[in-house]
Amino acid sequence: MSDKGEGLEVAVCGTETVRVALGERAYDIQIGEDLLDFAGEALAEVLPRPRTLVVTDENVARLHLPALLESLETFDIEAGTLVLPAGEATKSFARLQEVTDAILAAELERSDLIVAFGGGVIGDLAGFAAAITRRGMGFVQIPTTLLAQVDSSVGGKTGINCRHGKNLIGAFHQPALVLADTAVLDTLPRRELLAGYAEVVKYGLLGDADFFGWLEEHGTALLDGDMEARQTAIAHCCRMKADVVAADEREAGRRALLNLGHTFGHALEAALGYDGTLLHGEAVAIGMVQAFRFSEQLGLCPEGEADRVAAHLEAAGLPVDVRAIHNRLPGPEELVAIMRQDKKAKGGRLVFILARGIGEAFIAEDVDADAVTEFLREDMER
Ligand code: NAD
Ligand code: GLY
Repeated sequence: MSDKGEGLEVAVCGTETVRVALGERAYDIQIGEDLLDFAGEALAEVLPRPRTLVVTDENVARLHLPALLESLETFDIEAGTLVLPAGEATKSFARLQEVTDAILAAELERSDLIVAFGGGVIGDLAGFAAAITRRGMGFVQIPTTLLAQVDSSVGGKTGINCRHGKNLIGAFHQPALVLADTAVLDTLPRRELLAGYAEVVKYGLLGDADFFGWLEEHGTALLDGDMEARQTAIAHCCRMKADVVAADEREAGRRALLNLGHTFGHALEAALGYDGTLLHGEAVAIGMVQAFRFSEQLGLCPEGEADRVAAHLEAAGLPVDVRAIHNRLPGPEELVAIMRQDKKAKGGRLVFILARGIGEAFIAEDVDADAVTEFLREDMER
């Protein structure tokens, strides 16, 4: 390895544990290859009695549920299952009711834990169901997408979508344990893996230039199934997220940095009506490049950084340029209007995560809407 990323803890073998230090709500994230085989053992340590409900989606159920159930059975854990359709539409009131009904029908008590086994959709939905059933039950996250392993399963944001927008109904509710099996990512479609990779890159860009350098060198290996690279990156992202969440659980400040690329990216997703043209991670990839280009244009960030970010994401196989879809987008004024609905907006002011360089993101409050409009116009026509 070169000196890029020197100091990064490289996974040798075995399971790594990252602690999310939240006092009485503290928990471990375990990361390792074939961890699913040991899920029964890990769950036996946190379940108050050997009984649970596993909530999952059809794809994950087909590919990985038998392995999980076998492991639970080895430890005599009685597990009901609820298999839901895959996809964002599952984060709905109707499916939420299905989950809460299943928990109650299984006669699980308030002190019992449920298991969210899937990507961010299942983690957000099942976590929220746990938060509100019997006024708050515990839950375990077993994330099965790269996005969920580095982001959504950690930090306790749970929720569903409604007709007013994404993730608008929800709760902060921390899991009791997160088990990230790096081998289950082998079955993930390449496009989903790449979308998760955008969130991996996000950590380097927001706060760790060495990690970004490491990804420039090892990102391809990680994407191509190198388990050591994969575990190293996932554990590093989880450590970064655990630090941020421990310092700012409810996003009063610093946690907003995790939204790098999201104000631009969400506006693209919303403008396209969440029609699947862009996966969330793809929109974030474009949004991160836009955040760096905008930072350069404002004179905040040295020139060349945005090109370096774009080059890496593009080499990985992610979209980086809004021009490829610009004929399907509304004008810049409308995109800015969508950004005003962003959850970071305060009193109608636009809040962006901008950068002074790679690894040096900061929260920019009161960004001038006209400057954003002008930037978007140029970016779409470049
Ligand atoms: P997802 O849960 O829809 O999973 C993507 C697809 O991959 C699905 O079709 C799923 O069935 C399939 N899949 C999952 N694991 C698989 C595996 N191992 N092998 C094969 N297929 C598999 O999407 P996602 O990208 O994991 O999560 C997106 C969701 O996460 C969004 O709803 C977003 O709002 C949410 N999110 C939440 C947070 C948070 O902090 N709570 C953070 C980021 C994103
Ligand atoms: N995914 C952003 C956060 O957890 O705060």
